[in-house]
Amino acid sequence: MRNDLLLKAARGEETSRVPVWVMRQAGRILPGYRKVRASVKDFTELVKTPELACEVTLEPVNVLGVDAAIIFSDILVIPEAMGLPYQMLESKGPHFEKTIKTAKDIDALRRGTTENWDYVVNALKLTKRELGNKLPLLGFAGSPWTIFAYMTEGSGSKTFSVAKRMIFSEPKMAHSLLEKITETTIAYLKDQVNAGADLVQIFDSWGGILGYDTYNEFSLQYIARIVDELSKMVPVTAFPKGAYFASEQLAKLNCRVIGLDWAINPAEARKTFRNKTLQGNMDPCMLYSDTNSIKKATQAMIKAFGTQNYIANLGHGVYPDTPVDHVKCFIDTVKEYGANNS
Ligand code: CP3
Repeated sequence: MRNDLLLKAARGEETSRVPVWVMRQAGRILPGYRKVRASVKDFTELVKTPELACEVTLEPVNVLGVDAAIIFSDILVIPEAMGLPYQMLESKGPHFEKTIKTAKDIDALRRGTTENWDYVVNALKLTKRELGNKLPLLGFAGSPWTIFAYMTEGSGSKTFSVAKRMIFSEPKMAHSLLEKITETTIAYLKDQVNAGADLVQIFDSWGGILGYDTYNEFSLQYIARIVDELSKMVPVTAFPKGAYFASEQLAKLNCRVIGLDWAINPAEARKTFRNKTLQGNMDPCMLYSDTNSIKKATQAMIKAFGTQNYIANLGHGVYPDTPVDHVKCFIDTVKEYGANNS
């Protein structure tokens, strides 16, 4: 591969400079995405049309110069594959007509198989072919807990109290749903790797709303199962947003890379995650600042993490109204750093 900096860093090998990509790089910050998005009926049509998904996956590679492409899709492909379709409401986010409330609802869900996510497999194959051996292609899925949260809640939430109610009032039922999601997610990610994904990231976007004990029981053990299976095939990144309270347990995960949000101090993270590659962790809101400040903050971030065993990124997805040249400034500063400072 011509640029395999990210895979090298993920594997813990020496790199000539820090690799960089941006969560949600394939999205509304880019004019090409907004144009393609306006040409389709809705978000799911874009996700389900491999040619268009491929086009918006490649745009940040060409426009931003990132060191990896992440397949354009969504974590909500899994609920849909299991029989729970969603809509993406304009400026509101995901909405599920039906939610999971009872054991019967869980029994009615299927364990998804290839035919339920063939559009993602086809988008990956097409993108892999278009990318050639230029850059790594990243696949992803939500963590079982994060998917559980959407399936029970039916949308985003500030508290996720419906999801949390189930773990406290019906723990057995909650585990049976998490089991089913985990098995489906393992099959899904294996298909992504077989279709060309060079690394997979598990987004535990809502792990941070759990507590120390509940995180271990309802999120981490299921992430660990996915990591154990997928690590046999490719490097795996776990992104446990807001779950810094579980750092010591997270450090025991069998994954190569840990994604960090901005709440975490890089020096502390280096002490906790000794043998891992770290990814992150600029506050996406920092990119609302001026380019001079972005440059300084990005350099300080790299200095704090060090240039090895490190993948530069934001601490969460880039916000859609971030100026593209600010995102570009972040990326360029990372790319120039190695040459001047190490
Ligand atoms: O990172 C990338 O560029 C790849 C594509 C990607 C999307 N969603 C596209 C998307 C990835 C990796 C995701 C992951 C995802 N989806 C997560 C985990 C990461 C995180 O943000 O914590 C979550 C929780 C979701 C669920 C989801 N999808 C929500 C809550 C929303 C609405 C909020 C929003 O940003 O609009 C989405 C919609 C979504 N997924 C968009 C994109 C580009 C915007 C929708 C649009 O074009 O109208």
